[in-house]
Amino acid sequence: MTERQFGQQQRRRFETGETIFRQGESGERAYIIERGEVEISYSRSDGDVLLANLGEGEIFGEMALIDNEARSATAKAAVPTEVFEVDLELFQRHVQTAEPILSCVIQALLDRFRAFQQRVSSADLDADALARLSSERLSDARHQSPVHQQALTELKFEHELKRALSTDGREVQCVYQPMVSLKEGRPMGLEALVRWYHPELGTLAPDSFLPLAARSGLMRELDINSLQKACEFLHKIDTETSWKSLFMAVNLSGDHLSDDRIVTAVQQALETYQLEPHRLKLEVTESELVREPERAREILLELKALGVSLALDDFGTGYSSLSYLNSFPIDQLKIDRTFIKTLTTSEQSQDIVRAILSLASAFGQSTVAEGIEHPDQVARLLEMGCDVGQGYWFSRPLPPAALMRWLEDRT
Ligand code: CMP
Ligand code: MG
Repeated sequence: MTERQFGQQQRRRFETGETIFRQGESGERAYIIERGEVEISYSRSDGDVLLANLGEGEIFGEMALIDNEARSATAKAAVPTEVFEVDLELFQRHVQTAEPILSCVIQALLDRFRAFQQRVSSADLDADALARLSSERLSDARHQSPVHQQALTELKFEHELKRALSTDGREVQCVYQPMVSLKEGRPMGLEALVRWYHPELGTLAPDSFLPLAARSGLMRELDINSLQKACEFLHKIDTETSWKSLFMAVNLSGDHLSDDRIVTAVQQALETYQLEPHRLKLEVTESELVREPERAREILLELKALGVSLALDDFGTGYSSLSYLNSFPIDQLKIDRTFIKTLTTSEQSQDIVRAILSLASAFGQSTVAEGIEHPDQVARLLEMGCDVGQGYWFSRPLPPAALMRWLEDRT
């Protein structure tokens, strides 16, 4: 189809006074006015009411497509008018793929609009009838639709997270998982992992709220909250235990890799808790690094300039080329748990781990194996030359007090 034919098929002309569609009909398309003027009117028992005169560039006939209800009004050309016809399916695809909260709000607006129109149309009813009408809940089925209920629950949840973060973050805390030297079993450092102690839902692990935090733009606040708490805790370990040189790893979400406010936040945390910068390790994932690689590289270099160390988390699960990865200033690779899980049973996992270890050694990077749950995995990793491990075999992530006891037991 040539562009011209395409254009002709999509456009229609209406003469003055010609009806485009009538109130009560079902809707098959929406329209955008290209030239002319369209009169929207509403029929009541006592005659027609003019609702609006729409002009060039305006859309009409969209409501029936959004909620599959009848046309709410009649549309007529007020002068010779040319419209662009918007296909039902194309239009509905936009509505169906809209962000859930947005679609929920649109639906609510539409319902209220229809309720209002119904009241206006019943102007000749008595007061009692009107009161009954307005107390009726319109389209109950839609309010109870799981999608909309889910959207509203999420909206509340986001709100609670924001509140939890702003009220000094007592509900949002870190637990800490040790990283241990595989050879001697000595603790080398800790990874701070966020938990939300929700007043009603109990302890929530990141999986259950990070996606929401990401969607509602709360990741930065959440990470900085963890950064501060983790640095404060490391300072406490320094002053209250005999473990003086542990490192602290903090996860940074991709949002920080396009926004250098993280640099100031890191600098402030180091100063506040008087930490030697190299003891703070920032973990970023491979996939987030390559989203905006140039910007990410700049920010990582700024962080490096503060003296902190950088680790690449979940290594091996991304798809970036290795030589490319080497252009980022990374000190450590964290071998993803999926390879460790199958390390003693899968040749392929062993090959991958061996390849990662030799890559790290070629680039002068250290390695940490994640997700160790069994002594056989420790033995195999030691044979292969991996330095440090993390996983349930050594310790689950522990709240601060329990972690302090764990450390004291190993003095
Ligand atoms: P729909 O219900 O599909 O068909 C009638 C259209 O008229 C409706 O979509 C809107 O595009 C438009 N419409 C309805 N009420 C008004 C109003 N009060 N002001 C402007 N446009 C309206
Ligand atoms: Mg991590």
